[in-house]
Amino acid sequence: MYVILGASGNTGHVVAKNLLARGQNVRVVGRNAAHLQSLGGEGAEIFIGDVLDATTLTKAFHKADAAYVMIPPNPTSNDVRAYEDRVSDAIAAAVLEAGVKHVVSLSSFGADKPSGTGPVAGLHDLEQKLKQINGANALHLRAGYFMENSLPQVGAIRMLGKVIGRLSPNLKLPMIATRDIGAAAADALLRLAFQGKQTQELQGQRDLDYSEAASIIGKAIGKPDLGYIHAPDDQIRAAMVQMGMSDNFAGLILEMASALNTGHMRTLEPRSASNTTPTKFETFVAESFVSAYRQQAAA
Ligand SMILES: NC(=O)c1ccc[n+]([C@@H]2O[C@H](COP(=O)([O-])OP(=O)(O)OC[C@H]3O[C@@H](n4cnc5c(N)ncnc54)[C@H](OP(=O)(O)O)[C@@H]3O)[C@@H](O)[C@H]2O)c1
Repeated sequence: MYVILGASGNTGHVVAKNLLARGQNVRVVGRNAAHLQSLGGEGAEIFIGDVLDATTLTKAFHKADAAYVMIPPNPTSNDVRAYEDRVSDAIAAAVLEAGVKHVVSLSSFGADKPSGTGPVAGLHDLEQKLKQINGANALHLRAGYFMENSLPQVGAIRMLGKVIGRLSPNLKLPMIATRDIGAAAADALLRLAFQGKQTQELQGQRDLDYSEAASIIGKAIGKPDLGYIHAPDDQIRAAMVQMGMSDNFAGLILEMASALNTGHMRTLEPRSASNTTPTKFETFVAESFVSAYRQQAAA
């Protein structure tokens, strides 16, 4: 039995779908049954529970041979780091109590650093807590910068006619499509070839910066001159709060942006076939960004 946390989300649903497609027994975990129904239709066992609750998670992990674990984002929390701590405590306690032997965790590049990386410090702590569990083999997938992070730019383009952000315009980032993370996690879970405690970076198809990303988006939406504005902290903070995020979350995202800009947060592995994943940013834009942009136009 495989147990998948965050199973209705970007990465988790791909992990679950891939395992189901290979005929595996899969238990999918989330708070809302409706979000998990399509996976249920494909044969998954649906388990409703909150990742903050160690007792519930222990039940979710009952008889699991392996699990995919993650800290779901909580952008409205007024204390995101405390929330992350509570989730990683609950996950670690449940993995130990249920005796799960193989765990694939969703981590991030930058998780080697204990602090100064915004929400990624919570992923560092998750890795550390899982490392302390004797008898559990853990593979921490240190994913690159999600291509999906560009989706809120739909609103910026509509309002300002530009892509806007805090990252330096020429900062090369290992941008990755979340479906590639899900596929890599499912592969690792199917093979169960990891032993002890390991990390593996997933760097996406290539490194690219926001100037190039804006240009690719611009061509795809019929605005070939679309540019990128490197905005100051206060402007980005105000925009995030206006979108409904807490000031605390916005502050952590700005800390992460600074860590990326200064190189405090960076990949550690040289790019190779094993940490490069297939989906190009151009493909993500054509398949996901353009439809989000058109939907907002229609709305
Ligand atoms: N953004 C980046 O560039 C980046 C890079 C590297 C790593 N990461 C990490 O990736 C993770 C996010 O992965 P993702 O995008 O696959 O997640 P996601 O799409 O946000 O999915 C998370 C899922 O978890 C469920 N969930 C939320 N709160 C829950 C709770 N309290 N208890 C149980 N389930 C809950 C939600 O479903 P329901 O609402 O149905 O419960 C949601 O579908 C974060 O840990 C983030 O730090 C992000």
